[in-house]
Amino acid sequence: MKNDPEENNSEFLKYLIETGGPELLDYKQFTSIVNNLNIDEIEDFREKIKTILNKNTLIGHAFVKPYGYPGDFNLIYKIYQFDVNEDPRYRNWDIFFQNQPAANAVRNRKNFFIEYCKNLVRRKENAKVLILGSGPASDVYEFLTDYSGGNNINIDLIDFDQSAIDFSMKKNEKFEGQISYNKINALRFNSYKLYDLIWSAGLFDYFKDKHFTFLIRKYINCITEDGEMVISNFSTKNPTKRLMEVLSDWYLNLRTESDLFRIASDANIDKELVSIEKETLGINLFLKIRKT
Ligand SMILES: C[S@@+](CC[C@H](N)C(=O)[O-])C[C@H]1O[C@@H](n2cnc3c(N)ncnc32)[C@H](O)[C@@H]1O
Repeated sequence: MKNDPEENNSEFLKYLIETGGPELLDYKQFTSIVNNLNIDEIEDFREKIKTILNKNTLIGHAFVKPYGYPGDFNLIYKIYQFDVNEDPRYRNWDIFFQNQPAANAVRNRKNFFIEYCKNLVRRKENAKVLILGSGPASDVYEFLTDYSGGNNINIDLIDFDQSAIDFSMKKNEKFEGQISYNKINALRFNSYKLYDLIWSAGLFDYFKDKHFTFLIRKYINCITEDGEMVISNFSTKNPTKRLMEVLSDWYLNLRTESDLFRIASDANIDKELVSIEKETLGINLFLKIRKT
């Protein structure tokens, strides 16, 4: 071990690249290097790990953004599947990615959706659901697969990425007739229907406050009298924030609970109609807005 910490870090990174990524016992040191980088050191750091910043790893997939944005349907699907590249040059990098709290929080929000829908169909005949930014629609697939109570639910999916629509359609083909697929920007979609649930996860984190507020104002008009909007947003407490930013150039608008209450208030929603829940890690916050 040398005395120059910068040289030590470089050697450690070289070792990680040569051995196919961090083992569990390396996580702390690797994370600490990333967390302590100055902004002007990021480029140099990425140069040192450039052999993994490509589609061979989940970190690299987010970095190169093959569909134009980091959390595309394909990456999100792989998170749900706990997909890992078995090539020894990349395997441990993917396991590291999948073990991050943010990846676990994504998996948790799928479970949150499934539980919500189970309750919905228990209390409501012919429930109607709209999903904004539906991505792979793994949540829909799992809910409809597990739920054995008949087909008294209809789900409309909105996504502006044709590849996401194609993927979700193929995945859910056995539920034909229950799901509609709409390739359109959520900012532009106009609904002629009312929904019991408007759900959006992994979308509003990319919007500025003004778009967030605009969408609440717009979609609140598309909810039934006893319906609800549920919008997920990563919390400012996301412990994976820095890793996402430095490794994958993946930036989100993280928000606190009070940010979400303020945004709802800016959209002219009465505070009695607003509540916030979170998944077990407290990383994904769910802003819930009732119509009445
Ligand atoms: C991070 S993924 C989340 C997918 C899914 N909701 C989930 O939680 O598994 C976000 C999805 O939103 C879509 N998206 C992003 N901006 C959008 C917009 N303005 N209108 C419609 N879809 C959008 C992307 O194409 C992507 O499929």
